[in-house]
Amino acid sequence: MRIFITGAGGFIAGSLLKQAPPDCEICAQTRGLPLWAREGLRWWRADPCDPSEMTAVLTEARPQAILHTAALANIDYCEQHPDEARAVNVEVTGTVAEYAANSGAKLVFLSTDNVFDGERGLYQEHDPPSPIHVYGETKSEAEALVTALPNGVVARVAVVTGLPALGRGNSFLAWMLRKLEAGEEVGVPANEIRTSIDAITVARALLELAGNDFSGIIHLAGNDRLNRFEMVQRIALRLGYDPALIVSNDPTVLPGRAPRPMDISLDNQLARRVLRTPMLGLEAALALITENRGDVSPRE
Ligand SMILES: NC(=O)c1ccc[n+]([C@@H]2O[C@H](COP(=O)([O-])OP(=O)(O)OC[C@H]3O[C@@H](n4cnc5c(N)ncnc54)[C@H](OP(=O)(O)O)[C@@H]3O)[C@@H](O)[C@H]2O)c1
Repeated sequence: MRIFITGAGGFIAGSLLKQAPPDCEICAQTRGLPLWAREGLRWWRADPCDPSEMTAVLTEARPQAILHTAALANIDYCEQHPDEARAVNVEVTGTVAEYAANSGAKLVFLSTDNVFDGERGLYQEHDPPSPIHVYGETKSEAEALVTALPNGVVARVAVVTGLPALGRGNSFLAWMLRKLEAGEEVGVPANEIRTSIDAITVARALLELAGNDFSGIIHLAGNDRLNRFEMVQRIALRLGYDPALIVSNDPTVLPGRAPRPMDISLDNQLARRVLRTPMLGLEAALALITENRGDVSPRE
């Protein structure tokens, strides 16, 4: 099986590269430098925003499946730069979807729980998107390009917990551990409810989706529905930090912060039914993270 990963320098992509079985050929597209070497892994340096460059790379790579992770995933940045957000999150998905349509390659697109407005929670796959910020709007627009494909998959991913397996990327946990290590407080809102998933489980599920015959929308989310304050307190405690350093804040007073949906917990029953990869509760997810990364072992 040959899989093409877009945005391979990112957080979730790093986990995909590490979790891919050794017999899986990986074509990794990045704008940066190769981050890792192993047999069957080839890096392609390309700008996904240049449609002809991206299509040429895909055509040369001839993948059976594409895991499209490349995106502008910073909600506040997207709010302040809507044209750039649309160019990366929608137009690049259009380029990749067109290649998939012409070649027959399976396309697995990483979407988000942030396509929902958060007024209700426990969203199911058939619930209509109702985004309240630019990031959510762009991901929702991109979803429509992928669901139009006969073998397109929209994987709506909940907030991801974990440390970057390679490179840097967009890891909340890495940022939080740096603060806790320095004895600094970490402020998180108590009114935002999420069903977080760990980076290892999400990578395993995405790789499974690349290789199986599922198409359509699927929610990849953990089994525990928690507010972010409680979730982060439990993570700090599990990793041996003082939970008193986790403080509840009011996000509406933070300058430059885009609005956030309140309860975008995802119902993961479909994933639990159709995937071999188990969806986990927070404790099991943290055990998996600590088993796989020596540097996040619980402190003495
Ligand atoms: N992390 C989460 O909690 C979470 C939750 C739900 C959904 N998602 C989705 O999962 C995907 C991966 O997220 P992530 O957390 O791994 O994000 P990330 O660490 O920021 O990685 C995204 C990658 O996209 C590429 N990229 C970023 N800006 C770009 C630009 N202007 N032009 C072209 N390529 C650009 C970069 O790849 P290169 O550096 O290799 O070029 C970057 O490393 C995204 O689609 C995101 O929407 C993430």
